[in-house]
Amino acid sequence: MHTMDFKKLFEQYLQFVNRIIPKPPVLPVIGIDIGTTAVKAVELGPAAEGLQVRHWAVEPLAGGDLKSALKKLSERLHFTNQVLVSSVFGKGTLMRFVDLPRMSLEDLKKSYIYELDKYFPFDPKTIYTDCAILDPEGKDKKMQVLLAAVKKEMVDERLKLFKEAGLELNRVMLNPVAAANAFSRLGPAAGAAGKAKALLDIGGSASSLMILKEGSLRFTRDIFIGSQQLTQKIAGAFNVDAAAAEALKRDPGDKLAQIMEACDVPVNNLIGEVRLSIDYFTTERHAQVDEIFLIGGGSSLKGFEGVFEKGLGMPVKIWQPLGSLRVDPALGGDIQTHAVQLGVAVGLGLL
Ligand SMILES: Nc1ncnc2c1ncn2[C@@H]1O[C@H](COP(=O)(O)OP(=O)(O)OP(=O)(O)O)[C@@H](O)[C@H]1O
Ligand SMILES: [Mg+2]
Repeated sequence: MHTMDFKKLFEQYLQFVNRIIPKPPVLPVIGIDIGTTAVKAVELGPAAEGLQVRHWAVEPLAGGDLKSALKKLSERLHFTNQVLVSSVFGKGTLMRFVDLPRMSLEDLKKSYIYELDKYFPFDPKTIYTDCAILDPEGKDKKMQVLLAAVKKEMVDERLKLFKEAGLELNRVMLNPVAAANAFSRLGPAAGAAGKAKALLDIGGSASSLMILKEGSLRFTRDIFIGSQQLTQKIAGAFNVDAAAAEALKRDPGDKLAQIMEACDVPVNNLIGEVRLSIDYFTTERHAQVDEIFLIGGGSSLKGFEGVFEKGLGMPVKIWQPLGSLRVDPALGGDIQTHAVQLGVAVGLGLL
């Protein structure tokens, strides 16, 4: 169970895109989302009905010392025999959504492996890759396929990092797949027929847009605008250091209007990029996106949904990834305050 098998690795995570629900995990699973500003961990285990959150932690990445952050997490969550799942994202990862003639998954795997250089701008020897059929029950001659590639060095580095922290990482996934998986399994009406829903993860350094149609992931894009850029703008406008700007962002008091004014440019750029992608998706895929959900720490900014709603002209809501999970009432800390940051970790823990 604890041995790494790279072929299986990507196959298994992509099964979620396919919406094949695997057997409930025998052991508890800990999803560990290593972001640029914080490491988030969620342990999910079986409950009488469904799953429950057994533990959680958000460890700020002060100075970027990942190894000590991981060690702290492992002490707090008592890492013992749980399955550890983490993820990679951004540069060096690529997901492509293509239409191909309908064939079996086996045939697809056999054929596309010879065409990797057609789909990815990477040397095929340097990547781990996998594919999934997104509409396995479809009757059309064409089928929708997700092809994913990750630079080997990114996965290998992740494994090494865990090893150096004295931990064994069991699986590595992609952030957008994990987030989309969480949303598809736990989100509001994600699987409703004919409907496309967007999920925007606003992180510290970047944001990630995912569009799901009938509960399965159909589009992803990284947008390199994150909440730290807002902190910089606030620092400039109020002439304070980064820590004070961060504090203002989290607790604006009566300064909210000035804060929003200071953040106007990056926020509008982000909204503009999201709109472009949604328009592209609507035109290319003939599916209207009718709602957007925000996750990620950056979406906690007061009144952000309203700003997005106005900018995008469609309903925008914050999605709480823990909403439909049972949270062990004995858990300490204020999990609800951090819930919005835990989407990717929950998706990883669902494996
Ligand atoms: N209450 C809050 N109000 C406003 N912003 C917040 C709040 N809490 C956290 N943030 C911001 O959210 C960001 C962290 O969110 P998150 O943990 O989702 O990012 P990350 O995963 O570390 O980053 P990335 O996804 O870019 O790697 C930080 O920039 C932080 O300033
Ligand atoms: Mg993140």
